[in-house]
Amino acid sequence: QRGLAAKATDLEALKGAVAGCEACALCETRTQTVFSDGTSSSGVMFIGEAPGAEEDAQGVPFVGRAGQFLTRIIEKGMGVDRSEVYIANVLKCRPPDNRDPKVEEKALCAAWLDRQIELVNPRVIVALGRHAAVHLTGKDQSMGRLRGQVHRVAGRPIVPTYHPSYLIRQEGSSSFVRTKKLVWEDIQLAMREADLDPEPK
Ligand code: URA
Repeated sequence: QRGLAAKATDLEALKGAVAGCEACALCETRTQTVFSDGTSSSGVMFIGEAPGAEEDAQGVPFVGRAGQFLTRIIEKGMGVDRSEVYIANVLKCRPPDNRDPKVEEKALCAAWLDRQIELVNPRVIVALGRHAAVHLTGKDQSMGRLRGQVHRVAGRPIVPTYHPSYLIRQEGSSSFVRTKKLVWEDIQLAMREADLDPEPK
């Protein structure tokens, strides 16, 4: 995949190469690959874990329940349209039954994501959830330790924060408000990196 990824000179070409990927067994169970949504006009790129059922069906990342939550964070919180941020995942194919991505799946898919990041060239990356955060920072730590700061990997700013699914699971519990506040702090940190005005609307 590294060679094929390097040959893709734009995102359309890379998306086409990803669509034909058979590097791991997930190609046998996927409906289709899930490459991206949006643009990087705001300079912000969100990276989640892997497509779920809804994403696999539609071919678009973050369109299920977690996606609706993410859309709220982007539109109500950041005050920008969802189409102004770039959204992708570490894995381009859905793991069956939404199980965690395997180490070898992440390793094989990394070439696609690396090239995707290179071509999008965002001002800041928001890593959604521990899988994306550990993958992107290379630091095998808890989200509690990873979040709240800007990690620079090869000069690229990475801001880890809790996954929207984690927030949804906490809804109705006493920790929900606290976690939501922490996510908003992280988003504000990312916005400052992208030179966006993080004043709450
Ligand atoms: N969760 C993710 O991490 N990515 C998606 O695209 C959907 C849900």
